[in-house]
Amino acid sequence: MADAVLNGKLPNHLAIIMDGNGRWAQARMLPRIMGHRKGVQTVRLIVEECTKVGIRFLTLFAFSAENWSRPKTEVRSLMSLLKKYIRLEVPRMMRNNTRFRVIGNRDDLPEDVRIALDDAMAVTAGNSGMTLTLALSYGSRQEILQAAKAVAADIVNGRLLPAELTENSFSDYLYTAALPDPDLLIRTSGEMRISNFMLWQLAYAELYFTEVNWPDFGREELHKALNDYRLRERRFGLTSDQLRSVISG
Ligand code: IPE
Ligand code: IPE
Ligand code: MG
Repeated sequence: MADAVLNGKLPNHLAIIMDGNGRWAQARMLPRIMGHRKGVQTVRLIVEECTKVGIRFLTLFAFSAENWSRPKTEVRSLMSLLKKYIRLEVPRMMRNNTRFRVIGNRDDLPEDVRIALDDAMAVTAGNSGMTLTLALSYGSRQEILQAAKAVAADIVNGRLLPAELTENSFSDYLYTAALPDPDLLIRTSGEMRISNFMLWQLAYAELYFTEVNWPDFGREELHKALNDYRLRERRFGLTSDQLRSVISG
């Protein structure tokens, strides 16, 4: 039966490239920052909905390593929005039993933002519900490079043998060490690229692209993506027939 090989379930780890805030604003003759503000409201809505439907891991790409090259005023506004968001969201995270984490190069972030993030992580560390991860100052090539350097250092000082390095043990050197690989990646705003996001971790993720800009991405859009995911056949290199026999035992 064809149905037997379908997913039929929720992604364990959902990752989202939240794109299109600037275009959303520009289409309304508004400054780009208004799009980012509206984007924060979408974050609240989607985090809440993911909690409700029972997603275990939600990772949001909020600011890339490359985004530092944007105009200074935009970067500054984004940083202050981020700080405000974190401060306001911690009580809700506590209510929802959400664990908060950050991946990316935290050292690049302004000190006040870093402190707000560290506080949120510390306060929510014991929560056992959904893990909400923000990718901030995140670049996947940079992540892989720092992992390679850390591996080299461990080999040089005798803590690791080259033969012990496996896909699993290498993953432990990435920012995402504590996270499973994403099952589904959503990118909004019609762009069909990865933009240096989780290059290693997305190896077998299902990809979903929508034309909708992030500020307009609502519950309905989320459910459309989740329903689409349910219909995907994840073969991991096998044939459909093999999958069927695995499932039917
Ligand atoms: C996504 O929206 C948010 C960030 C990258 C910080 P954009 O700001 O990239 O919006 P567009 O792509 O210019 O429309
Ligand atoms: C990717 O969006 C980064 C985030 C969503 C935070 P960008 O808007 O920066 O990506 P490009 O430049 O269009 O590839
Ligand atoms: Mg963009």
